[in-house]
Amino acid sequence: MSSLAESGPVPAGAGVGAEGPILVVERLVKHFPIKAGILIDRQIGAVRAVDDVSFSVDRGETLGLVGESGCGKSTLARSILQLIAPTSGSVRFEGREVAGLGRRAARELRADMQMVFQDPYASLNPRKRIAQIIGDPMLLHGIVERGEVKAVVQDLLETVGLNPEHYNRFPHEFSGGQRQRIGIARALGLRPKLIIADEPVSALDVSIQAQIINLLEDLQEEYRLTYVFVAHDLSVVRHVADRIAVMYLGKIVEIGPAEAVYDTPIHPYTEALLSAVPIPDPRANAARRQIVLEGDVPSPADPPAGCRFHTRCPRATDVCSTGEPLLIDHGGGHHAACHHPLDRA
Ligand SMILES: Nc1ncnc2c1ncn2[C@@H]1O[C@H](COP(=O)(O)OP(=O)(O)OP(=O)(O)O)[C@@H](O)[C@H]1O
Ligand code: SF4
Ligand SMILES: [Mg+2]
Repeated sequence: MSSLAESGPVPAGAGVGAEGPILVVERLVKHFPIKAGILIDRQIGAVRAVDDVSFSVDRGETLGLVGESGCGKSTLARSILQLIAPTSGSVRFEGREVAGLGRRAARELRADMQMVFQDPYASLNPRKRIAQIIGDPMLLHGIVERGEVKAVVQDLLETVGLNPEHYNRFPHEFSGGQRQRIGIARALGLRPKLIIADEPVSALDVSIQAQIINLLEDLQEEYRLTYVFVAHDLSVVRHVADRIAVMYLGKIVEIGPAEAVYDTPIHPYTEALLSAVPIPDPRANAARRQIVLEGDVPSPADPPAGCRFHTRCPRATDVCSTGEPLLIDHGGGHHAACHHPLDRA
């Protein structure tokens, strides 16, 4: 039995791996206060970016986290890594509570959990050479000695498919795809167990996207990494994710094995997202029902009552605007929060 069993129950949306979860997120909340006032700041509301989110990730698996822009994916990622302090809730990594750790313990843990960022231009310090960008965090964490850092950086560059001789160059001398490889090498240098990749290919050309995804997959196998792979588009995570979690306005509305979520979605929002994903077979594509969601995503500062999706949902009835649907198990680890789940037959 995993040690996690002693530290608390595993939430809905649990993985199905034999070794049990490496990451358990329970009832995580992140509200950004909205303030007003000239002399004295008064809080007049809150952006409810992440609102009561629970899920777990098994060792070695890839959880795809998808949803439209602004639904809270990056805030969730940053709250898990404690890059921003969650408002409430629990994050356990290898059975250990992460929220509220002291600075030193948090730093150690941050080496185990690394993030790869969306924008390979903004995420690398333009004034630092590649050797420093990759080597400095390793020195800071005591992973390498100063005398060996060059050789280790060169090894890492080779691992991510870059020329090791380029260790002394600056970020502007690389293309977007190459910069993302540098970001991956920086994360990998700390020998992490979990990588949260926040839209790692969204800023790249389509031809380059596949190369970076292949690299991440190869590294996962080689280093037994666990991934949370964030994307706003289901087609990107289709091939990499073992399980998919779909977010809408700060909540997980559906989570389950990737195939089940793709082939037999339960939540109308997931169905709408999927209808926008092209299928390779043109006939199947033409036959498929396109669902165009009406209206904009409501503001997370004032989310709709009941089901947050009811203002745009084609299946909504009265109960949807009053009662919040719970994330319930529909079998096989496939959970969804909807009063009128789709017919999966
Ligand atoms: N520091 C902050 N202060 C106030 N509000 C914030 C802050 N960071 C994010 N938000 C708000 O929280 C909500 C969720 O934002 P977040 O960046 O997590 O979404 P996302 O799903 O990652 O979107 P995208 O796909 O565009 O990256 C948005 O309404 C955003 O404006
Ligand atoms: S609960 Fe109602 S509004 Fe929400 S997704 Fe289901 S049918 Fe639509
Ligand atoms: Mg984001």
